[in-house]
Amino acid sequence: MTEPVTFPQDRTCPYHPPTGYDPLSRPLSRITLYDGREVWVVTGHTEARELLVDQRLSSRRDHPGFPMTTARFAGIRDRRTALLGVDDPEHNTQRRMLIPSFTLKRTASLRPQIQATVDHLLDTMEAQGPPAELVSAFALPVPSMVICALLGVPYTDHDFFEAQSRRLLRGPSAADAEDARDQLEGYLGELIDRKEKDPGEGLLDELIHDQLREGRVDRDELATLALVLLVAGHETTANMISLGTYTLLRHPEQLTELRADPTLMPTAVEELLRFLSIADGLLRVATEDIEIAGTTIRADEGVVFSTSVINRDDGMFPEPDSLDWHRPARHHVAFGFGIHQCLGQNLARAEMEIALHTLFSRLPGLRLAAPADDIPFKPGDTIQGMLELPVTWG
Ligand code: HEM
Repeated sequence: MTEPVTFPQDRTCPYHPPTGYDPLSRPLSRITLYDGREVWVVTGHTEARELLVDQRLSSRRDHPGFPMTTARFAGIRDRRTALLGVDDPEHNTQRRMLIPSFTLKRTASLRPQIQATVDHLLDTMEAQGPPAELVSAFALPVPSMVICALLGVPYTDHDFFEAQSRRLLRGPSAADAEDARDQLEGYLGELIDRKEKDPGEGLLDELIHDQLREGRVDRDELATLALVLLVAGHETTANMISLGTYTLLRHPEQLTELRADPTLMPTAVEELLRFLSIADGLLRVATEDIEIAGTTIRADEGVVFSTSVINRDDGMFPEPDSLDWHRPARHHVAFGFGIHQCLGQNLARAEMEIALHTLFSRLPGLRLAAPADDIPFKPGDTIQGMLELPVTWG
């Protein structure tokens, strides 16, 4: 028997799964977590989709068998985490409150506002450059401004909540992550109090009016719901925009093709989601024995879904390591699958399409302003993306 692979590991190239995952076999394998525990990792596409809809897998972090992948998250496992950390029927009740705000139709109506935000940020970036640092000038503010407008959170507070989100998702310790959570919950709780007295416009105001006042949700639950939406709404898409830009600049043939035919953009976004798989490691725990692919996952065992490895399953995606705008990539699991499948996926797609299309049309000479291999990217224990992206143009 060979030693189980450790999980998570840092990527060697920001857009490929870590080479350390190469020994993982399909469709299931064993991995060792940071605390020495051995759990299952799902690597096969068919099995992933089968298991992600299986109600015998739970998302409850307070279950003793839940596979914590970092000490940072283990430290806050007892805290309530709306949506992502609850099972049905509680999950369904929370999700139903939010679905109308994230439908395809509702998201399509936000497109002009997203375009205006993108245009404004690029006006500023062009006026001040070249060069520019694309993460802070563009990739982060686009989704941050959009989610603020959608929720009714003042964007003037963005330095605060972006810094707390960073500490929560990749701070140095469990204590730091816990403090960041306290700060964010405190901030959102106060915002809810203020909005109760002085309503404004946005999803948070609607939820106060329709759910909180009616007693369908309490204030703390609403604050944790708002926290998940605020953090998931900006950190993920920001990473897709920065890493997506870097990946396109490193694939000039595909970029030329995309520039020549912008109608390819929606499928290109899907392929980038598959290829980059920035949320690598969906976590569950078995509540009963589950037979799958000739193996038994025992009750109380942890199960990790490595989206980067699943999305490179050549049984589903032939030549999975190549970036190809013509493949049907939509069956990827970059947004998860089953009841927890990303609530904001329509919004994220619209933001990525508009941001990448406008960036590359307005700045035809866009290129990296530092040697590609020197540009820092995020470690493997958090959502993948670029830490910085120095670019120039003209
Ligand atoms: C490209 C950007 C994004 C990626 C790659 C992404 C990825 C994911 C993934 C993989 C999950 C499932 C987690 C699991 O099964 O454990 C998820 C859930 C979720 N995402 Fe996203 N996400 C993105 C953008 C967004 C945006 C813009 C929002 C806006 C609010 C959002 C809100 C959520 C929420 C609320 C959930 C929890 C859903 C539930 O548990 O029912 N995400 N996301």
